Amino acid sequence: MSSVQVECVVKSSALIGEGPVWEESEQMLLFVDIAGKKIHRWSPTTNQIQSVDTGDTVSFAVPRRSGGYVAGVGRSIVAVDWSTQAMTSLVEVDEDKPNNRLNDGKVDVIGRLLAGTMGKEQRPAEVQRRQGALFSVTSDLSVTSHLSQVDISNGMDWSLDHKTFFYIDSLSLTVDAFDYDLNTGRLGNRRMVYCMQEGEGLPDGMTVDAEGRLWVACYNGGRVINIDPATGVRLQTVSLPVMKITSCCFGGPDYSDLYVTSASLGLEQSESRQQPLAGHTFRVRGLGVKGRPSNAFSG
Ligand code: BGC
Ligand code: CA
Repeated sequence: MSSVQVECVVKSSALIGEGPVWEESEQMLLFVDIAGKKIHRWSPTTNQIQSVDTGDTVSFAVPRRSGGYVAGVGRSIVAVDWSTQAMTSLVEVDEDKPNNRLNDGKVDVIGRLLAGTMGKEQRPAEVQRRQGALFSVTSDLSVTSHLSQVDISNGMDWSLDHKTFFYIDSLSLTVDAFDYDLNTGRLGNRRMVYCMQEGEGLPDGMTVDAEGRLWVACYNGGRVINIDPATGVRLQTVSLPVMKITSCCFGGPDYSDLYVTSASLGLEQSESRQQPLAGHTFRVRGLGVKGRPSNAFSG
């Protein structure tokens, strides 16, 4: 029997902790607080946290090949110079929808960025429907729209052979898959991989492990679930001490630690009392599986 341990490692007190990415070169965990408008970087060796204010919602931050990061700030893809904290907008999406904002983003193995949007939230997970889209951004900063009428564009990752793109539109309550053409970025043949069960809440962020299985953050479900995309079977459930689980990624020196972010925004007062760790970041060990390195944006 493996013994799974869950530990609260970053007391980040985020409103919406999100978008964890392991940065191999720095051996640090990069993540954001969307509503708190901050990018954070945490070192497990020193336990130090460094932060940059973004001035608007920031939904993801990922390493950039030419140095620094690219982040989704409001509706802009922004270059971030960590040392000077300077931010430069590279490109904007959804210009015709001023109330939209970017949400999850991730980079494929050739350096293409995929990022989604969503309409305005009245309250967490209560959104103006079908306003969102899914875009890709290539190294020349050209933007392609792949999906429209999305409610809350959320978790994404690729299969080990990069031929399948896994994707979550949260309010559909499903994890879907597309055929993915790595050369053109084109998506096709959408199908459902998994439908959330009673108590699992909304599917949010996700990561694919080194065996090709999915780890899905369960917003309002207080857990991360492990899905075999080949069969649609849930293989494992990891329970966490907070309900609004937002995303996860593997990291650590050998990618065997699962880092999990959470939100505190939208909890009732009584719920906040019962979940004093809401908004913090957790580390899960002993899963017996490793993750894959993250990719850097080529643009
Ligand atoms: C979004 C939140 C939303 C949550 C649940 C997150 O990715 O950023 O605004 O409430 O997903 O769907
Ligand atoms: Ca998310």
